[in-house]
Amino acid sequence: MPFPINRMRRLRRTETIRRMVREIEVTLDDLIYPLFVAHGLDVKLQVPSMPGVFQYSIDTLVKEAREVKELGIPAVLLFGIPADKDERGSEAYASDGIVQRAVHAIKEAVPDLIVITDVCLCEYTSHGHCGIIKGKEVANDETLELIARTAVSHACAGADMVAPSDMMDGRVLSIREALDESDFSDVPIMSYAAKFASAFYGPFRDAAGCAPQFGDRSSYQMDPPNRREALKEISLDIEEGADIVMVKPALSYLDIISDARGTFDVPIAAYNVSGEYCMVKAAAAKNYIDERRVTTEILTSIKRAGADLIITYSAKEFALWQAGV
Ligand code: PBG
Repeated sequence: MPFPINRMRRLRRTETIRRMVREIEVTLDDLIYPLFVAHGLDVKLQVPSMPGVFQYSIDTLVKEAREVKELGIPAVLLFGIPADKDERGSEAYASDGIVQRAVHAIKEAVPDLIVITDVCLCEYTSHGHCGIIKGKEVANDETLELIARTAVSHACAGADMVAPSDMMDGRVLSIREALDESDFSDVPIMSYAAKFASAFYGPFRDAAGCAPQFGDRSSYQMDPPNRREALKEISLDIEEGADIVMVKPALSYLDIISDARGTFDVPIAAYNVSGEYCMVKAAAAKNYIDERRVTTEILTSIKRAGADLIITYSAKEFALWQAGV
C-alpha cells in the first residue's frame, strides 16, 4: 500500500519518536579500548599519526586504565613495545615481558577491568613479521609453539582473554591446547579470524613499531577481495575453539561482518583500525567533518552490520560524549 497511506515520515517527526523506533544503539558495553605499553617510567608519548593515542609506561598505563574503567568502558586490548627485538621475538613470551608486567599491574590496580592481550610476534621480532622466518618465508608450524607460549604467558600474568592476531593456520587450536594444559581452560580466545592484509594498519605500525622490514604480510593475512574465504577462516577458528571471532578492518569490510553475523552464532568483534581512526581525526582537524557525529555514525554502522563488540581508539571520546562532556 503505497503513498498516501504509507508515510514513512510519521515516525521521524520528533526526537522522542525517533528514539522509540531506533533499531540499534552503540553502548559502552560494546566497546574495547586498545592501549600501547612500553618500557620506562612516567612515559606518555603521543603517536604522531594518531591524535589522542599514546604509548604509556606501566605507571601511566595504570592511571589510564583506571580512567577507562571509571568512564564505563568494560575492556582494554593491550599491545606491547619491547626493549629489544630479535629473530624469534623473545620478549613476546618472556614472563617479565612488557605486556606480562602491564597485565599484572592493571589487574592489581583495576581488577574489574577486562584485560585482553594481543597475541602476536610482530612487535617483538627484528624483521617485523608475525612469525619465525625460514629462508624468505614466515614459517607457519614453527611459529605456532611461540604464539601458544605467548598466550600462556599472558594468562599467567592474569589476562582475562587472549587475542591472536598473527594469522598463522592452526594457532587457535595450539593456543587452546596450551592454555588448557596450563590450567587456563577458563580463559577465552578472541581470534582475529578474518584479518585482511590492509593499508589501514599504517598508523598502528608507527604506534607499535611493527612494520615488516622486508616484504609484506600478504602471505598470511587475507587478500582484501575475498569474501567466501573470510567465512572459511572464521568457521575454522570456531572449530578450533575460538570463543569470539573478529573481522578486521571494520569499515571497508562491513559486508564480511554482516555475512559472519548471518552465518555464525558466536559473538562477532570488529576492529575499527588505526587508519580508519586517523582519517576521521585528520578531516576533523581541518573542520571538514563533524568529528562527534561522524565517529558515532561509524560505530553505529559497524554495530548495524552485525558486530557485538567494537575495538576502537574512539572508545574514550565516545564515553565522554555519552557522559555529556
Ligand atoms: C599485529 C596487529 C596489527 C594490528 C593489530 N594487531 C598490525 C598488523 O597486522 O600489521 C592493527 C591495528 C590497527 O591498525 O589499529 N599483528
